[in-house]
Amino acid sequence: MERIAIGSDHAGFEMKEILKQHLIDRGYSVTDVGTFSDASCDYPDYAVEVANRVVAKEADKGVLICGTGIGMSMAANKVPGIRAAVVGDAFSAEATRSHNDANVLCMGARVIDVEKAREFLDIFLDTPFSEGENHIRRIGKLERSQSEQ
Ligand code: RB5
Repeated sequence: MERIAIGSDHAGFEMKEILKQHLIDRGYSVTDVGTFSDASCDYPDYAVEVANRVVAKEADKGVLICGTGIGMSMAANKVPGIRAAVVGDAFSAEATRSHNDANVLCMGARVIDVEKAREFLDIFLDTPFSEGENHIRRIGKLERSQSEQ
């Protein structure tokens, strides 16, 4: 079973706790990097913790929750090898796996409700990368542009 690293800031704390339990119920091995309360904190700290675990192959995928998902994705995408996607609909949850081979899912607890977040998380985890030649080529270009920064 895949290993998932999960993290949030204060805005995503409650949703992160619910999604963590959902992942455990589904049989995933889950590493929670925090935050562990709703006290105000800084989303980049948790984004980098999750991203580093994915890049180090200590986790197969990452899940990050903040108010919008946007700050988390910005921070995670600074880490070479990370393809983090903000998802707010089912189509994007599927497409970012099958087209982008996204390895980190970011969602906004102030944008979508918990039921939607659970649905999008399941789609994200259940969708394989398509392995399409066109998508592999595009991801290669992404990786190169990231390493040039
Ligand atoms: C925190 O108030 C909020 O700015 C943060 O959770 C996130 O939405 C940033 O992108």
